[in-house]
Amino acid sequence: MRFFFIQLSDTQLGMAATLSGAGNPKRAEMLARGLCPPEFEETTGFAYETERYEKAVAAANRLRPAFVVITGDLVQDPEDLAQVAELRRITALLDDDIPIHLAPGNCDVDNTPTPESLALYRERFGDDNYSFDHGGVHFVVFNTGIAFDPSCAPGEWDAQLEFLRSDLGGAMGRRIVAFGHHPLFGYSPADPDSHMVIPTERRRVLLDLFAEHGVEAMFAGHWHKNAGGAAGGFRMVISGPVGVPLGDDPSGIRIVEVHDSGLQCAYHGFDDLPGAVNVRDIP
Ligand SMILES: [Fe+2]
Repeated sequence: MRFFFIQLSDTQLGMAATLSGAGNPKRAEMLARGLCPPEFEETTGFAYETERYEKAVAAANRLRPAFVVITGDLVQDPEDLAQVAELRRITALLDDDIPIHLAPGNCDVDNTPTPESLALYRERFGDDNYSFDHGGVHFVVFNTGIAFDPSCAPGEWDAQLEFLRSDLGGAMGRRIVAFGHHPLFGYSPADPDSHMVIPTERRRVLLDLFAEHGVEAMFAGHWHKNAGGAAGGFRMVISGPVGVPLGDDPSGIRIVEVHDSGLQCAYHGFDDLPGAVNVRDIP
């Protein structure tokens, strides 16, 4: 059981242009309130994200992970077909023998998902709650947008819980790792509710479920910077973005080594990528 995978998050093609306020009738107000970072004031299109996502895919092709996972916010605006086409174009540059797994983010299915936003995502990218196995480890991907706010998506939270109970139950006794966009918490299970984390009401349910089934860790994004914490033996890892950073961490990728005694991971900015990953060196 020695392999590594690469987590990408928040490729979010089009975010830099959105931060410019271009095309936004409230741009003057945004500028006055300092909501348009100076470096993005003239940005249009998605060249900023294209450059970085292409670097991420090139790194994966060079490093040869067991698989790549993108933990959501694939694009800024799912209604923008050019963004979706660019996401597909760059994703297709990944070598055919490296599997890629996608999770939706709030930008992909809305902060409050609806039957329509979920249907559009599923039609384009397939299941949003699913699992796969590699090297004896069970990996479960779930749509955290539903756990964040299921109020406009009737039946989805119950269906998600049913899926997780069944899937995790079937993997009982094996090592299990979860992926999603919103983290369960940022630093501690007692974190207050906010836009940044799954609300306490459903966080508790998921944490109990994960504890019951021995889920080892969850890898998420959403924050556009690195963070993380622990709850008992469960580790919550939040990774910085491929796209626009919103903190001190640069755009980059997370390399996660899976070895017999646990997980070992490190975030790398695109200017700080390793020459190779040799999991045989893990103690
Ligand atoms: Fe994002």
